[in-house]
Amino acid sequence: MQDDVLLVHGGSPLEGEVRVKGAKNLVPKAMVAALLGEAPSRLRNVPEISDVRIVKGLLQLHGVAVREGEEPGELLMDPTQVEQANVADIDAHAGSSRIPILFCGPLLHRLGRAFIPDLGGCMIGDRPIDFHLSVLREFGAVITKRPEGLYIEAPNGLKGTKVSLPFPSVGATEQVLLAAVRAEGTTELSNAAVEPEIIDLICVLQKMGAIISVTTDRVIRITGVSKLVGYDHRALPDRLEAASWACAALATHGDIYVRGARQLDMMTFLNVFRQVGGAFSIEDEGIRFWHPGGPLNAIALETDVHPGFQTDWQQPLVVALTQATGLSIVHETVYERRLGFTSALNQMGATIQLYSECLGGTPCRFGQRNFQHSAVISGPAKLHATDLDIPDLRAGFSYLIAALAAEGTSRVTGIDLIERGYEDFQAKLEALGARVELPMRVAESVA
Ligand code: EPZ
Repeated sequence: MQDDVLLVHGGSPLEGEVRVKGAKNLVPKAMVAALLGEAPSRLRNVPEISDVRIVKGLLQLHGVAVREGEEPGELLMDPTQVEQANVADIDAHAGSSRIPILFCGPLLHRLGRAFIPDLGGCMIGDRPIDFHLSVLREFGAVITKRPEGLYIEAPNGLKGTKVSLPFPSVGATEQVLLAAVRAEGTTELSNAAVEPEIIDLICVLQKMGAIISVTTDRVIRITGVSKLVGYDHRALPDRLEAASWACAALATHGDIYVRGARQLDMMTFLNVFRQVGGAFSIEDEGIRFWHPGGPLNAIALETDVHPGFQTDWQQPLVVALTQATGLSIVHETVYERRLGFTSALNQMGATIQLYSECLGGTPCRFGQRNFQHSAVISGPAKLHATDLDIPDLRAGFSYLIAALAAEGTSRVTGIDLIERGYEDFQAKLEALGARVELPMRVAESVA
């Protein structure tokens, strides 16, 4: 799979319907939460993506029985026989994802200790875990760093605490939730992340018997309980995948109905989509996105934590902004190296200049630190095909959009990264009329 080359023939508008399933940024966390229960859990609307496969493997390593249910997209997880996993086996999973860090709380509650291998995930910034380690220490965990990874113990169990995050990190908020729900006493977390995926995880934990309240000013209070049961939950739809298809419709002058997309989770995206000149209609089971014809408008955009403009929407939208008339400004405030992918777009004929200043918005953590985290995009640009090697998940999907909007045939490599977060993307592209092919796989199937 690593060296597959996808040929993308550009020039055809994407038209038709795709369906988005459960959110990539919720489903693996809900699977980890199942470890906290003393009874089986059932998760529905689970997409077939590699991040889910990785967590399934990690759960099975820890003695959790995981199997598909009757319904498509249904996962049954039985954690009653949880056991310590072998460090080498866990290590085999190292480097593939960031999710292993979230096993800490549940394993400390169930087994009193945990091992965390080196973490992977998209190279869109340094992505340190200092917030995670400091909150775990606040709960009373003892952390020993070794070359192969982190050994964590809770000699006196985990105790409720009061913590404030330096930045509303999604991962660190999940870390606190998964540790606090069965900790002794009450925990108060301020400056917390409140993304829809966080709220959905809180719904999962409440179904298991947890006591959690969220205030409007990013404070989450958790009253620890001694025992949790299993849950039955339908994962919220993937608003990040939905927005990616919306940007594909805009950049290819297409018309796509995204079944499963939900207005509530995408309000900020929909506002920006309309400001750029895209059209959409909200329907009971989904959202239709289309290019209404005519020029697109250049805009000034700043990414932020929820309810601001989500950083994972930025890369697909940047491709659409190469087709807008005038100068667009993008200020990426969540990750310091999430605009590097634009160099390939410039090779295709776009005009994108990067800056280390905080352009068009409020100064952020990365200002004056030599991080090229602002971009000026001059459009409209006529894109032409080129060879594209995918650096990370969202850049990967953005390259597909650019190649589909371009003239000629692009050769795209590293497509396994897209499978981390986009279920069955090639079949969906073909259903929308895209002309894409995987010659290597065709050759193998013929052979
Ligand atoms: C989650 O990553 C998502 N991944 C990301 O989606 C998403 O971009 C991000 O949240 C922000 O919404 C998953 O849920 C698997 P963070 P996470 O902790 O939890 C800094 C995608 O494409 N930070 O909110 O890793 C960090 O470096 C992916 O779907 C620290 O400094 O993100 C970053 O600058 C990409 N120290 C910022 O906080 C820490 O200990 C936000 O990171 C933790 C984070």
